[in-house]
Amino acid sequence: MRRWLAPVALAPLPTLLLVAAAVAVAVGGYEHAHLYHQGYSEVATIGTLFLLNAIGSLLTILLLLARRPLLFVVGSLGISFGSIVALVLTRTTGLFGFEESGYDGHAMLTLLAELAAIPLTLGGAIAAGGALLGEGAPLVPGRSTRDGAARVVAAVVVTIVLGGAIVGVGQGGGDSEPPTLAGDGATTTTTTAPSGGTPPPSASESEDTPADDAPAVSGAVADRSRALFSDRCAGCHTLADAESTGRIGPDLDQVVPGRSAAKLREDIVDPDAETTDGFPAGRMPSFDDLGEQQLTELVDYLAEVTRR
Ligand code: HEC
Repeated sequence: MRRWLAPVALAPLPTLLLVAAAVAVAVGGYEHAHLYHQGYSEVATIGTLFLLNAIGSLLTILLLLARRPLLFVVGSLGISFGSIVALVLTRTTGLFGFEESGYDGHAMLTLLAELAAIPLTLGGAIAAGGALLGEGAPLVPGRSTRDGAARVVAAVVVTIVLGGAIVGVGQGGGDSEPPTLAGDGATTTTTTAPSGGTPPPSASESEDTPADDAPAVSGAVADRSRALFSDRCAGCHTLADAESTGRIGPDLDQVVPGRSAAKLREDIVDPDAETTDGFPAGRMPSFDDLGEQQLTELVDYLAEVTRR
């Protein structure tokens, strides 16, 4: 047992495979942390699991860098299998009362990363053979310090990137940082930008949203509402004008057109009064904390930008 937990040195091939697996685990963990701060933190149990996935991914990778390949293999397989099973369950039978449909860019990337991690991890474990269990020449302390520095650097980089994502640095929905979108723009800019300067996407990683389509509605009120939407709603709802791609709730470009202002207001303040087909109640928090003016503006904004 102790032998299994002792540091071991692996040959180049298993090292390469396991490092590749670690990259896949890092991508999966990063995506989970990102999505957590983009709205999933609001979803009971699932949100917590997203956070645990990201933290587990980070720890697992650090174990590999600390020369504990066996523990890495166990962690990597556990996280990847668990994640894939959960992804599939949420799209079929539901998991902890949570259901989703389809795979958007983030779900797809997560799935591919976790799918890649499994064969890479297994391949690395098989290539390592007995060395994984600490058989063979014990690691002589001090002998292989050549790559020691590289391991430390890698550990620091991974910790900063993944750890940052976990605590929500730079994630639009996180509360550790003000939302990047028009947050300041709403208060400082006026109607001077004729075409309504394109606000940056709510998080730097929103790679799947075109950055160059100008918002449909401009002006200070629209900017304010767009900022509010990006801050409070974007994690769960798709809305082209706010460049959001959330999928926990319905696509607002699809469902809002034709809806009266009174109905929209009720949707926001008392979301469970009437819920959309295929979207379970209790998921959307009620936004009864919004001020009267904010609410009126938000409703007008939504009606305006979804007008067809
Ligand atoms: C945690 C995720 C989440 C957040 C945050 C969220 N929503 Fe929702 N929203 C949902 C879900 C799920 C539904 C569908 C179930 C329901 O109607 O309650 C929904 C439904 C709606 C509907 C009704 C759609 C329909 O077809 O009936 C509107 C409108 C809406 N949301 C607007 C907003 C606005 C505006 C905000 C921000 C102030 C917001 N939502 C924030 C998850 C969310």
